[in-house]
Amino acid sequence: MKLAILSRNGKLYSTRRLLEAAREQGHTARVLDPLRCYMRIDCDGFAMHYKGKPLSGYDAVIPRIGASVTRYGTAVLRQFELMDTFTPNPSDAILKARDKLRSHQLLAAQHIGLPATVFGDNPDDTHDLLAMLGPPPHVIKLNEGTQGTGVMLTEKLSASRGVIEALRGLYANFLVQEFVAEAKGADLRCFVVGGKVVAAMRRQAPKGDFRSNLHRGGTAKGVKATEAEKDVAVRAAAALGLGIAGVDLIRSQRGPLVLEVNASPGLEGIENASGADVAGAIIRHVSDRLTQRSTERAASAAAQKLGSYGRRGS
Ligand SMILES: Nc1ncnc2c1ncn2[C@@H]1O[C@H](COP(=O)(O)OP(=O)(O)O)[C@@H](O)[C@H]1O
Ligand SMILES: [Mg+2]
Repeated sequence: MKLAILSRNGKLYSTRRLLEAAREQGHTARVLDPLRCYMRIDCDGFAMHYKGKPLSGYDAVIPRIGASVTRYGTAVLRQFELMDTFTPNPSDAILKARDKLRSHQLLAAQHIGLPATVFGDNPDDTHDLLAMLGPPPHVIKLNEGTQGTGVMLTEKLSASRGVIEALRGLYANFLVQEFVAEAKGADLRCFVVGGKVVAAMRRQAPKGDFRSNLHRGGTAKGVKATEAEKDVAVRAAAALGLGIAGVDLIRSQRGPLVLEVNASPGLEGIENASGADVAGAIIRHVSDRLTQRSTERAASAAAQKLGSYGRRGS
């Protein structure tokens, strides 16, 4: 297949590994900076150019779109979709995953466990909003935060109220959650590819922090996820429509709870911790799905042809 990897930086570990794995498996692959893709939209077709030349004939695209370029990056990806290029993570699924509020609603609707979460708009409602959640400690999160920045722990009700007031003053969107103390600063990243957990790692927060993000100094170690954890991770990725996802879970007394579903999960931490060839699994998945799509299309074209003969005959 002819594959594009949408990434701002070809030198990043994840991008390099995907390129390497694609070439190893005999595919043609190229890294495209989404911010250098520009598009023409018209009622009779879609076109895209890259650094002065037309982009066409790509069978598949793997989006690696950073949070800071979500809007433009997903528009580029949507243009690829409209030009019939297959993507394991569609633009709409990425947008769902990037919005914590929306993804929590979609996950809960599928009965996937998560920490109890509240959100509200008006300062007059803060008192009752926090009463709906329950007593502190609370975890307050920016709706579109990543890598642990914008995630705060408040141990007293007055602190929760103070942080909420400050965030409202900054016009920031946030949500408030119950603090799952029994997680003890650890979480579990399950890497889902094509409906299977292909690798998992346990991340532990550094001393004095409750956030286990590697960017916040957390440490990682490869582990085997339990069947229940794998099931939740696979269902969470499916609920958002992602073929490739990093699903973060915490282990609680009432079972695994989903914290977030990452649509562009990094490969470096998980490959190093687990020793698994995650890049290879991603490329195989994309190639298999593409083959499956062609087979399905051929079958439906054949059925249509047969149907039209049938009609003519009758
Ligand atoms: N409700 C919670 N209870 C306990 N720990 C939490 C909770 N929410 C988040 N954490 C910790 O904080 C980290 C970052 O939170 P997360 O929601 O994943 O935000 P981000 O998108 O910034 O990574 C998690 O990996 C976890 O270790
Ligand atoms: Mg996280």
